[in-house]
Amino acid sequence: MDFQLKTLTVAQAAAEKSDVLIVLAGSAPIVSKDPLSVLAASARKAGDLPDKAGKLLSLYRPEGVVAGRVVLAAIGDGKPASVRSGVAAAVSAAKAQPARRVTLVFAQPADGPAVAAAVIAAAEASYVYTTTKPKAEPRSIRQLTIGVADAGAVSQPFDEARATVRGIELAKEWGNRPANHATPTLLGEAAKELGKLPNIKCEVLGPKEVEKLGMGSFAAVAQGSAQPLRFIVLRYQGAPKSQAPVVLVGKGITFDTGGVSLKPAAEMDEMKFDMCGAASVLGTFRALGDIQPAINVVGLIPSCENMNDGRAVKPGDVVTSMSGQTIEVLNTDAEGRLILCDALTYAKRFEPAAVIDIATLTGACVIALGGVRSGLFSSDDTLAAALEAAGEASQDRCWRMPLDDDYAEGLKSNFADVANIAGRAGGAITAAKFLQRFASDFAWAHLDIAGTAWKSGAAKGSTGRPVGLLVSYLMGRVGSTGAEDGTQGAKAGAKTKVGKKAGKSAAAPAGKTRTEK
Ligand code: BES
Ligand code: MN
Ligand code: ZN
Repeated sequence: MDFQLKTLTVAQAAAEKSDVLIVLAGSAPIVSKDPLSVLAASARKAGDLPDKAGKLLSLYRPEGVVAGRVVLAAIGDGKPASVRSGVAAAVSAAKAQPARRVTLVFAQPADGPAVAAAVIAAAEASYVYTTTKPKAEPRSIRQLTIGVADAGAVSQPFDEARATVRGIELAKEWGNRPANHATPTLLGEAAKELGKLPNIKCEVLGPKEVEKLGMGSFAAVAQGSAQPLRFIVLRYQGAPKSQAPVVLVGKGITFDTGGVSLKPAAEMDEMKFDMCGAASVLGTFRALGDIQPAINVVGLIPSCENMNDGRAVKPGDVVTSMSGQTIEVLNTDAEGRLILCDALTYAKRFEPAAVIDIATLTGACVIALGGVRSGLFSSDDTLAAALEAAGEASQDRCWRMPLDDDYAEGLKSNFADVANIAGRAGGAITAAKFLQRFASDFAWAHLDIAGTAWKSGAAKGSTGRPVGLLVSYLMGRVGSTGAEDGTQGAKAGAKTKVGKKAGKSAAAPAGKTRTEK
């Protein structure tokens, strides 16, 4: 979908050539005297357009409006969450009939966060998956023009939101693809495509290189599959090399059968979504490629299938991780942590400012937090606070969970340094405690997105989360020195080059070269 931002009053929006005009009406009195504003004000007064975000009133060919259909949509207090529900409802109504061009105008002044929320909600409501369903009704809305009182004042948040949408939609695409259309090899190729964007480089390692690195834990998960594993390394360099990067690590299990510790058949198809952490890293890089912020980011994706086979790793097998720690694989279905631990060890070579892993890690996290908030675990209070704030700002929320050492008791093993499972109790936390053993050399956070990365049931599909959270967090770091503690930098958005063309190497200023081991 093509987004545009324009300075438009409601009266000017009425003259815009489009199929549907959406007028977003907040709680403040609507004072303009153009016909549509007068209509909206009188509907409000009569109680036909209640002041509750998401309430709609549809009109057909009202006098003086070019668009055939008009949807008046309440956005309550005008805060991002309210704009989001108002826009979601209005765009869903707009697309009930084919509509190629939609204009969406704010009847009252709108700030950057409100405009960003409108862009993201409109994209969300109009998204259609077509890759393996080519006859599906394609997305009808091709062009969305957003009208605000002063386009110049909100152009940066608008551009960032548009870039975030591209990232979210890339994450959805890969999340939604069935496992036979999203193998580790194909994920590697998708990452390579991103490597063509300005300031992004991509390297994809295969089984031999991974073995050479000593990633025995990752390799053990992959060994039961006919699909070769991939270890993807993405780098975005928007700041001098001397600035420590944030490393994002995404779980890329393209299908999780559970392995020998086989999962039950019901809903096993949903384990195609077990690479949504990886997809969120790809999506975040897609957004970085557009926004070109002055930061450095590394993306690491260990990717393989978890299959049941004559060669598959067995319960009780002991494997040696890249860190040197031995692991007793008591349950082959706790495979996410086995691939992530080696990626965390690999992350150390970047001397990172912070490392954040993103993983559909535990069913226990779904029980704890449902589909509303992702689980956040962190050894670093500043980093945790920055991620919580980014989740609020992007409405892609998370909730901090504990990491007391007592939770690690159950991970003790008689045959290895650590076991890969503890008891049933506190399963999301014990998984995080396992990962923490491999993340002691840097500020680290873990996002368990098992509940938030996709929806089940009739609305089954990837959500693209937590791309919004990650982009918001990274933009908050622009201007920071890359301090070890995840300190927030200058105001989000400063020093970026959104919308401008950035040369492939021109925007990579020389600096002190950091040594990589
Ligand atoms: N990919 C799953 C986690 C998952 C399960 C996410 C259901 C969303 C819905 C993960 O690999 C897994 O199987 N975890 C096990 C861990 C257990 C064996 C300790 C789980 O949560 O059951
Ligand atoms: Mn599993
Ligand atoms: Zn899994």
